[in-house]
Amino acid sequence: MTDKLIIGVATDHAGYACKEIVRKYLNRQGFSAHDFGCFSTESADYPDTAHPLAEALQRHAISAGFAFCGTGNGMAMALNRHRGIRAGIAWTPELSEVIRSHNNANICVIPARYIEADELLVIVETFLQTDFEGGRHLRRIEKIDI
Ligand code: RB5
Repeated sequence: MTDKLIIGVATDHAGYACKEIVRKYLNRQGFSAHDFGCFSTESADYPDTAHPLAEALQRHAISAGFAFCGTGNGMAMALNRHRGIRAGIAWTPELSEVIRSHNNANICVIPARYIEADELLVIVETFLQTDFEGGRHLRRIEKIDI
């Protein structure tokens, strides 16, 4: 996933600071970051940005996404309602590698209140640089959508 792609970012208020750091990082790295909001630390409901992010990925307007909320759970629940969306929660770089290599996650959900600040961009970079392993994992992800 290292080609210079359009990457979506979405958050609620709890993840706003992380989203801004990641958005700027993606642009610095030569990706085009499409920002689905929110745009401040004012209280915001995570489904309001999760659904537009998921829909953009479904219609291939973006190639992958990063989503943020306090625990990661609300975002993941909303995103994973969408067919073909595999949003995995990663609070360490190891998890961000495994959600790509084993689960072929197309959205990395980061629990903003439960990560080490100095690991944020490592989580992001690892997600972008890790390929899906396929094989037995392909068989498994093909059984996800119902
Ligand atoms: C917001 O306070 C918090 O509930 C939200 O960011 C998230 O953790 C929900 O899953």
